Amino acid sequence: MKSRFTILEQKQNEAMQGGGKKRIEAQHKKGKITARERIHFLLDEDSFEEIGMFVTHRSTDFGMEKEKIPGDGVVTGYGLVNGRLVYVFAQDFTVFGGSLSETNAKKICRIMDLAMQNGAPVIGLNDSGGARIQEGVVSLGGYADIFYRNTLASGVIPQISAVMGPCAGGAVYSPAITDFIMMVENTSYMFVTGPNVVKTVTHEDVSPEELGGAMTHASKSGVTHFTCSNEMECIQRIRQLLGFIPQNCEDEPALLPYEGSDETRAALDKIIPDHPNQPYDMKEVIQEIVDNNSFLEVHKDFAENIIVGFARLAGRSIGIVANQPANLAGVLDIHASTKAGRFVRFCDCFNIPLLVLEDVPGFLPGTDQEWNAIITNGAKLLFAFCEATVPRITVITRKAYGGAYDVMNSKHIGADMNYAWPSAEIAVMGAKGAAEIIFKKEISESADHEAKWKEKEDEYNTLFANPYKAAEHGYVDEVIKPSDTRKKLIAAFEMLQHKAAKLPRKKHGNIPL
Ligand code: HXC
Repeated sequence: MKSRFTILEQKQNEAMQGGGKKRIEAQHKKGKITARERIHFLLDEDSFEEIGMFVTHRSTDFGMEKEKIPGDGVVTGYGLVNGRLVYVFAQDFTVFGGSLSETNAKKICRIMDLAMQNGAPVIGLNDSGGARIQEGVVSLGGYADIFYRNTLASGVIPQISAVMGPCAGGAVYSPAITDFIMMVENTSYMFVTGPNVVKTVTHEDVSPEELGGAMTHASKSGVTHFTCSNEMECIQRIRQLLGFIPQNCEDEPALLPYEGSDETRAALDKIIPDHPNQPYDMKEVIQEIVDNNSFLEVHKDFAENIIVGFARLAGRSIGIVANQPANLAGVLDIHASTKAGRFVRFCDCFNIPLLVLEDVPGFLPGTDQEWNAIITNGAKLLFAFCEATVPRITVITRKAYGGAYDVMNSKHIGADMNYAWPSAEIAVMGAKGAAEIIFKKEISESADHEAKWKEKEDEYNTLFANPYKAAEHGYVDEVIKPSDTRKKLIAAFEMLQHKAAKLPRKKHGNIPL
């Protein structure tokens, strides 16, 4: 008779094989690694503790009672990332295509419940053919159980989804509710309905990659926050991202040790071009302000007229929102507003201070923007800033015009400190347009229209195209030399580190969705 330990080992070995050698080979041939391999690379060495290794499904339809694989298509458990506790589930495509069964969903829910009770992030590694077709509605119920937990956990613990294979149908909504989505080029896709249904309904011919691949969702829809060229890069990105965020909403992001020496950054004094309409790259400004190479850009290929991402400032984790004058002159449009709004919400959920670098000519005009609701969408960013209670600092590098001045973390909507560079222009609108409106009569009655217009434009510029009017009103706390920005920000964020601000008591606000 086999010893009890031998039986245990055999069962463990069987579970470790997932769907078997052939299916593992097929997985590798597609350029993908297995669920267990993903967990192995994601977590600190030997830190993974598995939960539910022997769980199997209960289905008896379609001969399923004869096909039971321990684990039932998802590997779940907990472990450490850089010494910090995380909960993880990895769908195993080698077992029924990683499809979601009743028991498989229960395993995922258990991980999420534990994560909530113990205040630690959940990382989902998705690679699944969707609802377990043989199980029908209980599988759909399983999805809904997960969506519900995703929603309740939102803002309590960080949730990160990596999509490393198919993710179709309603299954996409779990990642969509989580805080960040990562996708892998060429091997992952997300769509509500696949190319065949699309062809039938809209007669469009489209490949899975084009319809819902990583680049599509990175650049066109903005569904994914990160696109990675392979799975290892994706796993590294998750580890890097976790470094900036705390364990839960009651926790603070880790403060890394920092010994500063180069807080004055001379290069910043030379970045703003002589002519106000000339572009420059705000990413260079960011690099010069933050700790060396610490910037992790989020949503890099989407709405490039605004930049969002995490960085460190003297070891402190901060979230950055910055207009990008090198793209569409840094204008605010629908995509930029929703991208930045969601990022602000995330930072505020998890106590990550916000730095705003502002150079914005205003909101983008046009029928396309108006008919697609720039009003509602722009309001999302405004609302997000207004509600954010984390330390918030703005630096106006150049333009701060019109409503965009108010929206981009102005003092009026709760920014704690507002700095401006001497190149700042803070006004209702550009001088040319302003002169045309307020001096219309004078210009039209003048013998030389152009000369008069120019004269009035210069007058308006002298009066408003500078930071001093705003500083006189206290809307700008200090006008600073660009090279001192880093130094000023380090001091100000330290000064604000114990900020305690509360919103009025309410069930929840009604963000303009
Ligand atoms: C059960 C499934 C499955 C599923 C795949 N498999 N999807 N088993 N339920 N949903 C099994 C296959 O039978 C196969 O088993 C193995 O997984 C690998 O699948 P292949 O088709 O051989 O792999 P591949 O060619 O890579 O194609 C992958 C795929 C395809 C594109 C995902 O399998 C597929 O289209 N599956 C069905 C997708 C689907 O329509 N799902 C339901 C969506 S609706 P063997 O034994 O041969 O290895 C949905 C609703 C969610 O999910 C609603 C939430 C609210």
